[in-house]
Amino acid sequence: MIGRGLFSTYEMERADVDAILVEAASFREVLSRPIPVVPALRGSTIAMLFFENSTRTRTSFELAAKRLSADVLNFSPATSSVSKGESMRDTAETIAAMGAAAMVVRHSSAGLPLAMSEWSGLPVVNAGDGSHEHPSQALVDLVTLTDRRGNVDGARVTIVGDIDHSRVARSNIWLLSAMGAHVTLVAPPTLLPATTVGWPVDVTDDLEDVLPETDVLMLLRIQRERGAGRRLPSLREFTMRYGMDARRAEMLPEGALIMHPGPINRGIEISPAVADSPNAVIGEQVANGVAVRMAILYRVLAGAAGKAVGAVDA
Ligand code: CP
Repeated sequence: MIGRGLFSTYEMERADVDAILVEAASFREVLSRPIPVVPALRGSTIAMLFFENSTRTRTSFELAAKRLSADVLNFSPATSSVSKGESMRDTAETIAAMGAAAMVVRHSSAGLPLAMSEWSGLPVVNAGDGSHEHPSQALVDLVTLTDRRGNVDGARVTIVGDIDHSRVARSNIWLLSAMGAHVTLVAPPTLLPATTVGWPVDVTDDLEDVLPETDVLMLLRIQRERGAGRRLPSLREFTMRYGMDARRAEMLPEGALIMHPGPINRGIEISPAVADSPNAVIGEQVANGVAVRMAILYRVLAGAAGKAVGAVDA
C-alpha cells in the first residue's frame, strides 16, 4: 500500500493504520504551532487531479501538502487537454514527466487511481474513485473516533443511507471492522449493494430498531448525481423513514456520536438540529482532515523514497 500509494482500506496493513494514527497526532501538534509548517517534503511536487467536485478532500490535501512544504500542482480537468481528447494514461504520463513525486486522484471510475499509478510509475492517493473507496475519509473518521472514544474496539457503528453508491461506507466498513468495530448498515433495499455476502456487517431496513444499540451513527447523503434519486419513491419518503431528526436522536444511548463525511444535505438525511447538536462531530471530522492527510502524504512519499518514517520535525 504505502510506497505505491493508498488505494483502499481493504488492503491496508494494520501497521500502516497504526502508524498513520501516530503520525496524525504528531502533525496535529505541528498544526497548533504559530508557524504550522515542517520541511518534511520540501522539494517534492504533489499533483492534485480532481475529476469530480470536492470541497473537503481537495482543500485538505492541498493544505496538507503545503504544511509539509511540498509544491502543489493543481490540475483542472475542464481546462485541461482531457477536454481535447487526451487519454487518462497520457495525462498521467505527462504529469510524471514534469517531475511530480505523487498524485492525489479523484475520479468517477472505480480503479482509476490505481491505473494512474501503474501508467505513471508514481505513488497515487485515491481521493475517491466512483463508488469503490475513499480511504483517506475513513482514516479521518477513525482518528476522530479514536480521539473521542480511545479506540473503536467493540464500538457499535451504524451506517445509514445510500450505501450502494457510498465509497465512504465501503472504506469505513473495511477499516472499522478490522479495528474491532461491529458495523450495521441501514438502508432501503434499493440503496443497498446487490449483495453484501462476505461483508463484515449486519443489514436492516429498520433504523429505529438499531438506534438504541448504536454508539456511532454515520449518516450518508443520497447521491443524486449517481442516480440514487431514481431508486426512491421520493426524498420526502426517505427522510420520513431514514432521516435523522431530534426525535430519533433521543433514541440513541447517551454519548453516542453522530458523524457525516459531508457534504450534508440538511433536512434530508440529517435535520439542522441534529447536525448542530453537541453529539455531532462533523466539524471535528473536517478539522482532522489536514493532519490525517499530512500523515498519508508523508508516509506515501517517505515510503516511495525509501526514507525513514517517523521523524516529522526534520
Ligand atoms: N467527504 C468528502 O469527500 O467531501 P468532499 O466531496 O467535499 O471532498
